[in-house]
Amino acid sequence: MFELTDEQKEIRKLARDFAKNEIIPVAAEYDQKAEIPWPVIQKAFGIGLWNLNIPEKYDGQGLDHFTEALVYEELAYGCLGVFGAFGGNSLALTPLLISGTDEQKDRFLPAFVESARLAAFALTEPNAGSDASAISTRARKVGNEYILDGSKCFITHGGIADLHIVFASTDKSRGIKGLTAFLVPAGTPGLSMGKKEDKMGDRASHIAEVLLEDVRVPVANRLGNEGEGFKIAMRTLDVTRPAIAAAAVGVAQRAVDEAVSYAKQRVQFGKPIAEHQAIQFMLADMVMAVMASRALVWQAAAKIDSGRVDSMLSATAKCVASDTAMKVTVECLQIFGGYGYMKEYPMEKLVRDAKITQIYEGTNQIQRQIVANLLLK
Ligand code: CAA
Repeated sequence: MFELTDEQKEIRKLARDFAKNEIIPVAAEYDQKAEIPWPVIQKAFGIGLWNLNIPEKYDGQGLDHFTEALVYEELAYGCLGVFGAFGGNSLALTPLLISGTDEQKDRFLPAFVESARLAAFALTEPNAGSDASAISTRARKVGNEYILDGSKCFITHGGIADLHIVFASTDKSRGIKGLTAFLVPAGTPGLSMGKKEDKMGDRASHIAEVLLEDVRVPVANRLGNEGEGFKIAMRTLDVTRPAIAAAAVGVAQRAVDEAVSYAKQRVQFGKPIAEHQAIQFMLADMVMAVMASRALVWQAAAKIDSGRVDSMLSATAKCVASDTAMKVTVECLQIFGGYGYMKEYPMEKLVRDAKITQIYEGTNQIQRQIVANLLLK
């Protein structure tokens, strides 16, 4: 049984009000423009809703994963694409937080609390998506430096981030055990943005290719030891997948709320459609699925906070919550009938946004594979 503390209720309310007053009014505009919502990020920074996972020691918010999940549900309720900037940063800073040295944290984290900045988790490549071990970006050690060459795709904040965490192979012959993670600050010659993606949904988030040509970073920018990159990436995703799950719950809850309010005012056959049992049962099934997903998110996040990261639980929360978001948004659109299909109503955006939650941070097929592997082990 989870009982929220007063502090958790307070920050959830702050995020809820922020979504209502600052995100929802501009969500359609950013969806249409497909631009990163800088004014929203600046406002979030100003009221302490940014840098959620940066420890208080570095003047970040230092939230635990459970409280972070509460905030992410509210932000994504407002707009999944806007949440993308928050979630993308949290994902990208996690490798530094879990495997960086004190010297690396002291060097890179302060900039993120001085002003609102972006970070990017650069793992995926054109031929290394679900199979993250197939990375072909190379890192050659020459003297006191590594020289990185390759390209990354579908990277949140790719090419515009102040800090890219780049996963590269330092020893091709060792496969998965030859992957290594590097901290690449903005302005490093040779790192540039490639194609910016034009997406179906999640449009307020910036996703682009990252090109790396003779990118030189000092040995001091290597995260962990050579060969530890794959484990750093997997440990990162174990703690960030519940955040994606929380966002999926936010999208699903928004769809249910919109459908409830529409069903109460839409009159057909002489009464509001909410009085037809066909609609009531649809709504009941959906809200049950949303509540079950939220319970899983809370359990997965609490498990991480207890220090016992559970890959199976994180994967389950991500898979169940995002499948729920997809199913629920489609069904809620159905309740809106023809209006649901039109852009002036909120449902079509929610359907477009929900889809990415089944794909990013590991497709739901990968989540099922993780669960099956652990189940059968
Ligand atoms: N924690 C620590 N170590 C782990 C681990 C975990 N969760 N999972 C695996 N490992 C270790 C294993 O123990 C093993 O090490 P040993 O040999 O020393 O025992 C090693 O890693 C290899 O493990 P597997 O054999 O299980 O690896 P695999 O190649 O079969 O596949 C996978 C693993 C789960 C499929 C993995 O490749 C994966 O998660 N793929 C999906 C990638 C992904 O989520 N990408 C999303 C990118 S980020 C994004 O989308 C956001 C954005 O910006 C848009």
